[in-house]
Amino acid sequence: MLKKKQLADSASDDFAADVLASLRADPPSISSKWLYDTQGSALFEQITRVEDYYLTRTEAAIFDEAFPALADMFGPGMAITEFGSGASIKTRRLLTALEPQLYVPIDVAEEFLQDAAEELHALFPKLEIIPLVADLTAPYELPEAFTRKNRRLGFFPGSTIGNFPEEVAVQFLRGARAAMGDKAHLLISADLVKDKDVLERAYDDSEGVTRQFTLNLLTRMNRELSADFDISQFRHVSRFNTEKSRIEIFVESLAAQTVSIAGEAFTFEKGDRIQTEYSYKYTQESFAQLLSQSGWEVEQVWTDPNDWFGVFLASA
Ligand code: TRP
Repeated sequence: MLKKKQLADSASDDFAADVLASLRADPPSISSKWLYDTQGSALFEQITRVEDYYLTRTEAAIFDEAFPALADMFGPGMAITEFGSGASIKTRRLLTALEPQLYVPIDVAEEFLQDAAEELHALFPKLEIIPLVADLTAPYELPEAFTRKNRRLGFFPGSTIGNFPEEVAVQFLRGARAAMGDKAHLLISADLVKDKDVLERAYDDSEGVTRQFTLNLLTRMNRELSADFDISQFRHVSRFNTEKSRIEIFVESLAAQTVSIAGEAFTFEKGDRIQTEYSYKYTQESFAQLLSQSGWEVEQVWTDPNDWFGVFLASA
């Protein structure tokens, strides 16, 4: 059974207004959410398969071990909610392994969510699917059909939590705790601190896909905001900030230049940077600490042989 989505999100984001405001700020930035237009989403898909980007394949290998263990632990018929996309291969693998009765995918992107739910419904016709449109950093409620279940699991893969600054991460985790209720479980991935070169390479791969992914933002602004970026005069930069324990991604100007965006002029000196994404890296201890200050206790951790990536099972 596939239900129609539960809530409608009125806040349709305004690309122009958001970009102009964040570029006028000091330091200038552009929200990473604008990276994912059609071309950007296709490029990100490609990133997940390049050799230097170890995250996706490492997580998949850990899931090979974790999913059967979770299936033993919970048994079939539970309720699962996923924070973010419901169209991914990992979702299908999780649903196949755990055989839940109910699946509630949550996303802000309404149309995407409905399409993904329909696709899943075709693959798992007996699974009850209730898509929910919600912003995960604001309070939201899960459907009654979910909260009244005894066995409830939240799924947040992909190390996406790493893209939230700490206060937002805490807000998200507390919100999930509140929405899911007592005795719920959370399966959440985090990329772990490791050698600086390995980290920086993962975000500036030798095949140049990540560079294209970042610079696609400029192409998008040229097309959608009548901007006039000369793409050859900017470069993609990936730096690990050890003190803040995060990868920082920038677009850097290669020359002194002026660019017009939606009719407004922006001047760049050579070396000026626009920040586009942070990706926080945790240790097993610091991630357990983040969870515990947000109402979640770690029960089990799965890692790869290098300890590069962690999959954490926590309970409310
Ligand atoms: N969630 C991904 C990560 O932090 C997103 C990502 C991968 C990304 N490569 C990127 C974002 C390059 C911006 C630029 O690993």
